[in-house]
Amino acid sequence: MTRKVTQRAVRSRARSLATKAQRAARHALRRNATTALSWLGRAPVPERTRIFLAERLTRRPGPITVPIDDLLLGAQNARHFTAKQFAEQTGDLMWASTPVAAGPHAQLLRLAQARAGAELGDEEILKSSYGQMALACIQAQGRFFDAADADGVVRVARSFLRGEQRSDGAPRPVLVAPISGSRCYQVLDGHHRVARAAVRGDATVEVVVKWLPVTTPLQDLLTRMSWLDGERQLYQPLHAPELDESWPVVRRCTDRLEKMLGFLAERGLAVPQTETYLDVASCYGWFVRRMQDQGYVAEGIERDPLAPELGRAAYGLEPTLIHVGDCETLLAETDRTWDVVSCFSLLHHFVLGRGSVGHEDLLRLLDRVTGRVLFLDTGQEHEEWFRESLAGWDADSIRRTLLENTSFDEVVDLGPDLDAVPPHERNYGRRLFACVRSVQ
Ligand SMILES: C[S@@+](CC[C@H](N)C(=O)[O-])C[C@H]1O[C@@H](n2cnc3c(N)ncnc32)[C@H](O)[C@@H]1O
Repeated sequence: MTRKVTQRAVRSRARSLATKAQRAARHALRRNATTALSWLGRAPVPERTRIFLAERLTRRPGPITVPIDDLLLGAQNARHFTAKQFAEQTGDLMWASTPVAAGPHAQLLRLAQARAGAELGDEEILKSSYGQMALACIQAQGRFFDAADADGVVRVARSFLRGEQRSDGAPRPVLVAPISGSRCYQVLDGHHRVARAAVRGDATVEVVVKWLPVTTPLQDLLTRMSWLDGERQLYQPLHAPELDESWPVVRRCTDRLEKMLGFLAERGLAVPQTETYLDVASCYGWFVRRMQDQGYVAEGIERDPLAPELGRAAYGLEPTLIHVGDCETLLAETDRTWDVVSCFSLLHHFVLGRGSVGHEDLLRLLDRVTGRVLFLDTGQEHEEWFRESLAGWDADSIRRTLLENTSFDEVVDLGPDLDAVPPHERNYGRRLFACVRSVQ
């Protein structure tokens, strides 16, 4: 009886502490959430109570139902390592940008389903994306659940395929963290259960959500890239579910690509399989990838050292195709030419004196490396942010400057881009110029 009363008293005390702690957490979240947790770490309470309180403190009350497609891959191995650490360990920047429904757990279930009753072999399991993920966990973290070697991985996988639940205590909720600036959530615990629901065809899942948002490695890398100075914007198209809401694409790029391809076709200059392409200031590498898809041997030059990593993760570009450095230096050092060269939205920075050489020098360098066609656009005076600084830098003067400082004797105005839309409706609309020589 005394024991029962004591237990009840402890539980009731814990609940009241939890309510207080939750209030503190909400308050602290606005200022400094770690304060509340560090208070808890020092509080003189038994371990079980501490865990109970920590859960109450860090999680929103009650489960919610969310679309299954909004649940992205997170930490593996029961949260001993974060998703960021796992992405680093495996070199997979897009890990935490991948829906669980498309991830390794769901892929294994689908692989087994496709067998219609015939068992997967051990080698098939180990070669599957699930097997590879589990082996990567063992290599980097020492284990994958209770598996410490390949045999263990096969055992864990088979148990998952048989639909077995882990039997270490009370059923746990699928635990997720909100992803910053996004409708998506990162799964912290429950990948196998979410994958099973996805393969079953469930549209939603019940989850418990932590208070504190996380960011994905992709978001972090984009924020660190130099060009947009930490702003939540994408300079070139890049798809990831957690970027959909708050990361508008500044340059649609498809309009400029269509103009380029149209011009090359019209002039009979499109012989992709043998042609080479260089994009100067290639940014994420969108044009490099698209010209590669057209059959060009494509490369880029980009100052930002993070560009090769992003290009690999976002577009599957071989990182060595992006030469990192200042284009004025790299172009001056090379004795190569490329059949088609593009230089988009860079020249005006040199006009504004931000380059180590003048804009005429940059044009001469571009001319020297161009075999057949140079495509170029630049910020212009009609744009709100350049009205004063680029006064006089309009389509006519750009054409004239191109003709005066290069060996091109034809400069064709292919028209404006379509990027002058909110939030940049007063900017962009830059003309794209194609520069060719009458004697090739
Ligand atoms: C305005 S963005 C244009 C990106 C891309 N060319 C486009 O139009 O879609 C300018 C890009 O040029 C790069 N950049 C700036 N100065 C550079 C330089 N001197 N050499 C190489 N890249 C440079 C920046 O890092 C950034 O990615």
